[in-house]
Amino acid sequence: MGFSKPLATLLVALASLATANSTNCILWNSCNITGPIGSVPGECGKMLVPLDYTNPNSTQRLEIEILRIPATKQPKKGSIFLNFGGPGASGIEDFATFIEEIKAATGGYHDLVNVIPRGTNNTMPFSCYTSQASRYVGEKPLATNASDVALAEVWAQSSIFVSACETLQNDTGRLIGTAFTARDTMQVVEALEEDKMLRYWGFSYGTLLGATLVAMFPDKIDKIVLDGVVNPFEYYQNTESERMASVDDVIRGFASGCVAAPTACPLAQNMTSTQLEESLYISLEQLKQSPIPLPDIATLGGGTLIDYSTFKSYIVSMLDFPQLWPEMAQTLAGLSSPASNPPPARTADAEALWGIKCSDVLTHAGSAIELLPVIQARRSLSRFEGDATDNLLFRCAQWKMPAKERYSGDWNVKTKNPILIVNNRYDPVTPLVSAKNVSDTFQGSVLLEQVSYGHDSMQQGSLCTAKAIRAYFTNGELPKNGTVCDDLKVKLFSGKTGWDEVIQELNADPVNLG
Ligand SMILES: *[C@@H]1O[C@H](CO)[C@@H](O)[C@H](O)[C@H]1NC(C)=O
Ligand SMILES: *[C@@H]1O[C@H](CO)[C@@H](O)[C@H](O)[C@H]1NC(C)=O
Ligand SMILES: *[C@@H]1O[C@H](CO)[C@@H](O)[C@H](O)[C@H]1NC(C)=O
Ligand SMILES: *[C@@H]1O[C@H](CO)[C@@H](O)[C@H](O)[C@H]1NC(C)=O
Ligand SMILES: *[C@@H]1O[C@H](CO)[C@@H](O)[C@H](O)[C@H]1NC(C)=O
Ligand SMILES: *[C@@H]1O[C@H](CO)[C@@H](O)[C@H](O)[C@H]1NC(C)=O
Ligand SMILES: *[C@@H]1O[C@H](CO)[C@@H](O)[C@H](O)[C@H]1NC(C)=O
Ligand SMILES: *[C@@H]1O[C@H](CO)[C@@H](O)[C@H](O)[C@H]1NC(C)=O
Repeated sequence: MGFSKPLATLLVALASLATANSTNCILWNSCNITGPIGSVPGECGKMLVPLDYTNPNSTQRLEIEILRIPATKQPKKGSIFLNFGGPGASGIEDFATFIEEIKAATGGYHDLVNVIPRGTNNTMPFSCYTSQASRYVGEKPLATNASDVALAEVWAQSSIFVSACETLQNDTGRLIGTAFTARDTMQVVEALEEDKMLRYWGFSYGTLLGATLVAMFPDKIDKIVLDGVVNPFEYYQNTESERMASVDDVIRGFASGCVAAPTACPLAQNMTSTQLEESLYISLEQLKQSPIPLPDIATLGGGTLIDYSTFKSYIVSMLDFPQLWPEMAQTLAGLSSPASNPPPARTADAEALWGIKCSDVLTHAGSAIELLPVIQARRSLSRFEGDATDNLLFRCAQWKMPAKERYSGDWNVKTKNPILIVNNRYDPVTPLVSAKNVSDTFQGSVLLEQVSYGHDSMQQGSLCTAKAIRAYFTNGELPKNGTVCDDLKVKLFSGKTGWDEVIQELNADPVNLG
C-alpha cells in the first residue's frame, strides 16, 4: 500500500481545489469516441462533483466523465445533453453510433454532450458477480410462467442476486441513483458557463432521467425532448406493467412484415401473418415440453438450451431493433442447426441496470404474492412478454441499498418552457400510452407520435419527426400537439433504418435560424 498515502493527499488536494472555486471546471482533452461501427473525434472531459449530495458538509468528491462533440455550424447555440437510455448504459457506444442522426436532427448549431452516468463505465462501475461463469448462471433467463414452480424460483433467485450485489457494492450502491445523476448533469450545465439552462434529448431510461430533471429543476429547463417514454410513476413505484402495452402489436407487426417480405424472412413460408403469429405462440408452448439442446463445447456450460424462457427472452431483446428482424428470422428459422451465441463479454458495469433502477424504487415487498396484481397486469397486457421479465420487479422489490436521494414528488410540474414528447406507435418497451401519461402530467408539453416500430425514434428514421425536433432545438418552435408523423422511407425487413435518406433530405433543406 506504498501509494496510498500520496494518493490520499492528492485526492484531498483536488477536493479542496474543487470546493475553493465557486464554479467547478471541466478539464477537456481531445479524444476519439468509439462505438461498434467506428470512432468519432470529440472531447473527453473530467469534472469533480460531490460524491454524496445528501451530505453537504462532506468534501468527498467523485470524478465524472463527460463526452462532447462540437457543433459544426455557426453561430453556436447552447449545448444539448443526451442520454441514450439503460439504465446502466454509459451511452459511449450509442453516442458514436447515432452521432450523424443526432447532428442532422438537431441542426448542427449545438455542442452535443453526454454525461457518463454513475454506476457505468469508469464512474463507480456496478457489478454483482466475481466471474463471468457465475454471471452466466445468475443471469439465465427464467419466465415466471415457464412452469408451475418458476414464479417461486425467480423470486428466490432474485434474492440471491440482491445479496450478491449488497456484498460486493455496499460502499457505492446508495450513490448511483437517478437523482444524483440528475444533480451531476446540472453541475455540468453550470460548469459550461453558457446560459445555465438545460437542453436535453433523452431516450428510453433517458426519458426517466429527463422527467426527473424536469421535476427537480423546473426553472432550469430550456428545451427537453423525451423520446420513447417511461411511465415515471410506475418506474419509481416498482409497478411497471404499462410497458407491456404494445408488445403484442409489435409481434403482430413482425409477423405481417415477415409475410410481406418472404425472401428476407424464411419464417414466412406459405403462412398468413395470423398463422405465423400463432405459430410463435405454439412454438413457445411446445418448448415448455421439448426444449432444444444445442451442444457446443466452446460455450460456457458446454452448450445452449433453447427453452421457453430463452426463446422468449431472445425475441424480446430483438423487438427493439426492426433493422435486425431479418437476422432474427434467420436465427429462428435455423434453430435446429447448432449455433453458438457467446455469452456477452464481462464488463465492470454489467449489473448497473439493477444498481440504478432498484436503488431508485420507493416500495419494497416481502414476497412474490404482494406483487401479484402487477404480475397479472403484465400478463393481461402482453401474451408474449407478460411473464418474461418479472425478475426486474422481483430484484427491485428485495433491494437492500436504496439510493440516498430518490425523487418522490408528484410530477405535477409546469416547466419554464414547454417540453416535446416523441413516441413510436409500436414501441415494444415504451408504449405510446406512457408518452400520453407524461404529456398529461407535464403542463404545456406537446406530444408527437411517429408511426414506426422499434424502441425510440432512432430505430426508424422519419423526416417529419427529425424536422420537428430540429425546429424545436434551433428555433423553439413546437409542432402542433398530437402531430402524427407517418412518412417512413423503408419497409420492415428491408434491414434498413431509413436514416440515410432522412439525413440527406435534412441537409438539403437546412433550417433557417429564427
Ligand atoms: C483519433 O483517431 C485518429 C485516426 O485513428 C488518430 O489519427 C488520432 O490521433 C486520434 N485522436 C486522439 C485524440 O486519440
Ligand atoms: C453541517 O455542518 C454544520 C455546521 O458545522 C452543522 O450545523 C450541520 O448539522 C452539519 N450537517 C450535517 C448534515 O452534518
Ligand atoms: C468504458 O467504455 C469504453 C468504450 O466503450 C470501453 O472500451 C471500456 O472498456 C469501458 N470501461 C469500463 C470500465 O467499462
Ligand atoms: C401460463 O402457462 C400455462 C401452461 O402452459 C398456459 O395455459 C397459460 O395460458 C399461460 N398463461 C399466460 C398468462 O401466459
Ligand atoms: C451494508 O452496509 C449497511 C450499512 O450501511 C450495513 O447495515 C449492512 O450490514 C451492510 N451489508 C453487507 C452485506 O455488508
Ligand atoms: C408454398 O406453396 C407452393 C404452392 O402451393 C408450394 O409449391 C411450396 O412447396 C410451398 N412452400 C412451402 C415452404 O411450404
Ligand atoms: C399515469 O400513470 C400512473 C401510474 O399508472 C397513474 O396513476 C396516473 O393516473 C396516470 N396519469 C395520467 C395523467 O394518466
Ligand atoms: C397535448 O395532448 C395531450 C394528450 O395527448 C395532453 O395531455 C396535453 O395536455 C396536450 N398539451 C397541450 C399543450 O395542450
